[in-house]
Amino acid sequence: MKISDINIRIVKDSRNKDTLEAVLRSGDFEASASVPAGKSKGKFETTTLEPSLVLSKFETIKNQILNKDFPTVWEFDGFLISTDGTKEKSNLGGNLILVLSIAFTKLLAKSENLQCFQLISKILGKTPRKFPYLYFNLIGGGLHAKDSLPFQEYILVTKFPSPAKGLEYAKNCFEKLQEDIEKNFGEVRLGDEGALTIKSDDPRVGLQVLNRNATGPEVSLALDVAASTFFENRIYNLRGKIKSSDDLLSYYNLLATSYPLLSIEDPFSEDDKDGFIKIVANLGEKIWIIADDLTVTNPDLINKAQKEKAATGVIIKPNQIGSVTETLEAIKLAQSYNWKVIISHRSGETMDSFIADLAYGVEADGLKSGAPTQEVRLAKYNRLIEIERNF
Ligand code: PGA
Ligand code: ZN
Repeated sequence: MKISDINIRIVKDSRNKDTLEAVLRSGDFEASASVPAGKSKGKFETTTLEPSLVLSKFETIKNQILNKDFPTVWEFDGFLISTDGTKEKSNLGGNLILVLSIAFTKLLAKSENLQCFQLISKILGKTPRKFPYLYFNLIGGGLHAKDSLPFQEYILVTKFPSPAKGLEYAKNCFEKLQEDIEKNFGEVRLGDEGALTIKSDDPRVGLQVLNRNATGPEVSLALDVAASTFFENRIYNLRGKIKSSDDLLSYYNLLATSYPLLSIEDPFSEDDKDGFIKIVANLGEKIWIIADDLTVTNPDLINKAQKEKAATGVIIKPNQIGSVTETLEAIKLAQSYNWKVIISHRSGETMDSFIADLAYGVEADGLKSGAPTQEVRLAKYNRLIEIERNF
């Protein structure tokens, strides 16, 4: 496919920070994409450059892109990755490469008269038949919410075959939680991802409140602990309550017996691989142990973690690695290990719903897109519902 025009501009994300939007054209077809930004990031995520700097970098490659023919996403990404020439994408910026890569993928799908998810599943040789479980972050803490709980996300997982049913359940649950929190904790505030906050230092409180408002065979609970954010000098500092890696493991064992936990993400710091290995040995049969900061959507790190039995599943965030094809490689690899794959948004989001197509197209086990309270989060859940209704 030959691209006839490209424009990149700066737009605001959900935290009102600058980010990039790309619009690509080929003949009569047009596609756009925009990229999100994380706050609780893994150390080995690809480089994100200042959007204003990216605009000038882009000018240096624009004509080269317009003069070439790219038959597939592999050729397009390959061109950008080799032009960048660095492992961490620090020359052009992972955010520039990804925004172009997603827009290109959408444009190619249109030019082939396919939905984006159809192109993705075609690339992976799949026929998607099931929707992912929906991961709704309903109670937030950690870096995403001031004066709230120490763990980052207390998640309602809906397992209905229909995403429309899942979203409806989550919206009702959110309302119940809001009443519960107002009654028992006083004020109601929202964190970065639109999740409710609770003024408490006790990590269990989030699970208690969620658990008493979410029951039934079609729902489970999950945690994103984001433990790297409170790991200091090789100890876990939970609001002054010091825990060793082994203490934290015992604590998870206790939580696992008290609550219907389907998965725990980042239970230990990315610098505490032993913690991951121990929890897989202890709870890996019962609970999905999901790596995020540890693996950052990077096939090499996923491969390493699998060899060490440090996880049983992985979070996939395209902007951690910085291109569509590398994201697909990471997913393929994780699925080849029979790992669980959860596609995720970032805490600073845009209206782009590419990750919903990605989740359905690769038959992911979960899609994590925050609380059903912000437009940028709903855009992803609603895209799944659109797919459910129309295809
Ligand atoms: P982030 O957090 O988007 O702020 O990095 C999300 C997560 O840790 O999963
Ligand atoms: Zn995470």
